[in-house]
Amino acid sequence: MKRIVVLGSTGSIGRQTLDIVRQLPDQLQVVGLAANRSAEELQDQAREFGVTDIALMDEKTAQAAGIPGGMNAVVDLATRHKADLVVVAVAGVIGLQPTLAAIQADKQIALASKEVLVAAGHLVMPLINERGITMTPIDSEHSAIFQCLQGYEAKHLHSIILTASGGPFRGWTAEQIRDVTLEQALNHPTWRMGGKITIDSASMMNKGLEMIEAHWLFGLPISQVEVVVHPQSIVHSMVRFHDGSVLGQMGWPDMRLPIQYALVYPERLPNALRPWNPAETPQLTFEPVDETVFRSLALARRAADEGGLMPSILNAANEEAVNALLAGTGSFAGLMDLVESVMDQPSGTDTSLGGILAADAWAREQVRDRLRV
Ligand SMILES: NC(=O)c1ccc[n+]([C@@H]2O[C@H](COP(=O)([O-])OP(=O)(O)OC[C@H]3O[C@@H](n4cnc5c(N)ncnc54)[C@H](OP(=O)(O)O)[C@@H]3O)[C@@H](O)[C@H]2O)c1
Repeated sequence: MKRIVVLGSTGSIGRQTLDIVRQLPDQLQVVGLAANRSAEELQDQAREFGVTDIALMDEKTAQAAGIPGGMNAVVDLATRHKADLVVVAVAGVIGLQPTLAAIQADKQIALASKEVLVAAGHLVMPLINERGITMTPIDSEHSAIFQCLQGYEAKHLHSIILTASGGPFRGWTAEQIRDVTLEQALNHPTWRMGGKITIDSASMMNKGLEMIEAHWLFGLPISQVEVVVHPQSIVHSMVRFHDGSVLGQMGWPDMRLPIQYALVYPERLPNALRPWNPAETPQLTFEPVDETVFRSLALARRAADEGGLMPSILNAANEEAVNALLAGTGSFAGLMDLVESVMDQPSGTDTSLGGILAADAWAREQVRDRLRV
């Protein structure tokens, strides 16, 4: 029996994580749950799974609901003695402190919050290695790569090929994208996800962030992380070995499979999910990304190459701009100009946790300033 804490249990990944726990009651037990403001849903989940340890990040909501609140309460939950594995599925870089604390408390990590590695891979990965912690990726692409690499040594890996659905604007010109609405950007062709990641998929910044995530997780330079558009979202990503052989992992676009693998790794347990069948899939196609339209990939490569605080700045500026867009401010077409203009400003050099949080706050303020103009 693995005892798990779910940070972000009321979100898209969090709910699907609980779905897997329902399917595997003899292998998984929930011992802690955390969210931001969804007090009622959190309490319903706690009742269903018999959990007494819960927390909300938002202190006001927590106080009103009589639930422990704030960063300290979430960190406390992530480091409790009785947990074996912490699922980090909160939206954004806010998951960084609880992740670092959980690693320091020798918990296994199942990571959905890619922003944690984007902003602080240089802090997270050495700690993971130092403490001998298993960190399983939940992102379907990274799960695919992780699965393909089982049984191989790092020295065999030549490059990583991340697949991207291409989002709702695949094949569009920059001119056509200029006037798209928020509703169009939220209309993802293959995956149903939270709002932030859906917008990131439409701009392909999600793939940019995933390139940086893959660079940290699998120890390859960003130049060896490629992206290919695969509209059917069946091949979840591939690895290329030095002998030229390429392996991929296939499945229907359903996050519950990578979530299950991340939770019960290295087991392969039967479940109620529909197994993929090649004969039911009419055609699998692959095409290059048009980087003149989707500038997010070049910005991500630039951030990884410059290193230091730049990935945190890219991530924070993008997150703030996307959240503003979701709240009705700014335009989808203007997102990358906004992010780039923040990256072009001089920034600091302190890459400690404090420095990252300060850079994150600074980049958000820069975006808010620009959107007020
Ligand atoms: N959705 C997917 O299919 C998918 C796939 C791959 C990777 N991911 C990654 O998984 C992470 C979560 O994505 P999602 O789609 O599940 O997001 P989501 O549906 O927006 O859910 C976010 C969760 O995080 C909580 N949260 C939000 N702000 C928080 C804060 N300041 N402090 C603590 N908790 C906070 C939310 O609580 P409240 O309900 O209280 O707001 C909710 O439980 C993201 O990093 C995303 O990139 C998602």
